[in-house]
Amino acid sequence: MKKIFFIISLTISAFTIYSCNTSSPEDFFEEIPEGQLVTFNTDVQPILSSSCVECHGGDFPAEGLSLESFEEAVNGVQNRNVLNRIINVDNPMPPSGLLPSQVTDIIFQWVEDGLLEE
Ligand code: HEC
Repeated sequence: MKKIFFIISLTISAFTIYSCNTSSPEDFFEEIPEGQLVTFNTDVQPILSSSCVECHGGDFPAEGLSLESFEEAVNGVQNRNVLNRIINVDNPMPPSGLLPSQVTDIIFQWVEDGLLEE
């Protein structure tokens, strides 16, 4: 009988650990290994589509700013304040709160690496 409880509690704790891990945004976006260039298609697009495009996409993007395509994202970084708003504590984007710095770092590294598409 005791063994059953042990197995059940083990299952519950394994599940708890698993769900904690999967709900943390840091885990979705792994740090870029040293020396590897950041590209839009591989690294940046998944961040924008999961955190920004629900508002900054479609036919009527918020503030007329779409971040869906490569060209739109480059324009957003160069002409539309994206780099400011993703680290602006007083005026954050997304409005619900800033993304973890591991994630915003990827966008800054993309700019440093020369706004590569792929
Ligand atoms: C829930 C909807 C929503 C999400 C998600 C969202 N935004 Fe916004 N965004 C808005 C709205 C509404 C505005 C206009 C009001 C304002 O500037 O705060 C805006 C404005 C902006 C602006 C200012 C545009 C300009 O030229 O003045 C930038 C830059 C921006 N968002 C970037 C982002 C980025 C990058 C993300 C994802 C990391 C993001 N937003 C996620 C709704 C959203």
